[in-house]
This record gives sequence, C-alpha cells and structure tokens, in this order.
Amino acid sequence: MIEVNAMTGAKRVKKTLPLHRGLEEVKNLKALNGIRGIPSLMDYQVGDGIMHLFLQYAEGVSLDRCQQPFDDLFKEGLRILSAVHDRHILHRDICPRHLIVDETGSLTFIDFGSATCQEAQDSIVGTIAYAAPEALFEPAKYNETSDIFAYVKTFYRCYENRLKSFKPDQLNVLSKALALNQADRYETAEDLNSAFNRCL
Ligand SMILES: Nc1ncnc2c1ncn2[C@@H]1O[C@H](COP(=O)(O)OP(=O)(O)O)[C@@H](O)[C@H]1O
Ligand SMILES: [Mg+2]
Repeated sequence: MIEVNAMTGAKRVKKTLPLHRGLEEVKNLKALNGIRGIPSLMDYQVGDGIMHLFLQYAEGVSLDRCQQPFDDLFKEGLRILSAVHDRHILHRDICPRHLIVDETGSLTFIDFGSATCQEAQDSIVGTIAYAAPEALFEPAKYNETSDIFAYVKTFYRCYENRLKSFKPDQLNVLSKALALNQADRYETAEDLNSAFNRCL
C-alpha cells in the first residue's frame, strides 16, 4: 500500500507481513542498506503476530511495461545484483513485477521477502515462469547463478519483441546465463556483465 505524507507529498510503501516473514525481510533490507537500486527500510512496527514495514517508494513501472533501451538497463541491474550477492543475499524471486524502472532509466529491485542469507534452503520460492530448474527441483542448490538465471529470463521475456536487433554474440551471452546446468552458467553477475560488455 502506498502512503502519501499530507505535508510533504512524499510517498512510502507500507507492507504488512506475518511476523516471521517481516523479520526476515527487515534483516535482508538492513544487510542491503545503502545499495543504490534497493529501497531503504524507513521504519517498521511489530503488531500482534504481524509486522508493518515502511519502505522507500520506487517511482516508475515494472520492467514489462518500460520502454527503456536494453543495454544500459540490463547492465545497471547486474551492478545491483552483484552488490546484493556481495552481501551474501540471494533475491530468490526476480521477475518483471519486482524490477521497477523510472523514466530516467534507473532500476530498483523490490520485494526481498523471499530472500535469505546463503544457507541451503529447502523450500520452493520464486515465480515459476522465470525460475531456474534447480529452484523448482533442487531448492537446496539455489545459488547466485539461479538469481542470475531469473534476472536474464526476466529481461529476455520483457524484450522478446526486440531481440531481433541483438547481435548473435549478445544472444550467446544471454543463453549461457540461461543454461539448464548451473555449472555451464556465468558464476557471478560481474562475469556476465564483463562478457556482455565485450560484445557491445
Ligand atoms: N519499494 C517499492 N516501491 C514501489 N512499489 C512497491 C515497492 N514495494 C512494493 N511495491 C509494490 O507493491 C507490490 C507488492 O509488494 P511486494 O514487496 O512484491 O510484496 P509481496 O509480493 O510479498 O506482496 C509490488 O509488486 C509493487 O507493485
Ligand atoms: Mg512480490
């Protein structure tokens, strides 16, 4: 729910969650504090078995509705994803509605409600259409390459009509990130970014 401050007009997002999920999201957002492209946690309140989170509002539209050119946006997102992974957080639910793009082409990753520190997990999370195979069949093997898979799949789908203008080298780089086998993918978002830059 979006709240507007009557005095200043400033917007913030109020998100209400069961307490255990709220605690998890607060922990993740605190670990990510200060990364450009991640909403900051402005406040939180604990109620009876629930938690209210107040987040910085990301202005813009979800990736599937944005008109920005691919290259800079894709690289900007890889910069953010790399910073998230550097802090040992996996997003676990990257999909078009969780990538917000404003009119200047700035990207924000939202919803760190499924994210968690990099210990093995046994529950299935994520949005099936974008999830790597291991996210569905072997969730304990979910790692950085699985987040990168979902990120690339998300962009691939949102830019499907425009892929004709991509160079074959660029498409090869995207395909490698979408390999079914984790071992065949780029290991880090930074590696993918470097490979993508080499074919620009
Ligand atoms: N920081 C934010 N800025 C702008 N919109 C947001 C923000 N956080 C959430 N939203 C909007 O609210 C929706 C639900 O929030 P989300 O964090 O995905 O919660 P959940 O999926 O757990 O309900 C998002 O899809 C988005 O439209
Ligand atoms: Mg969500």
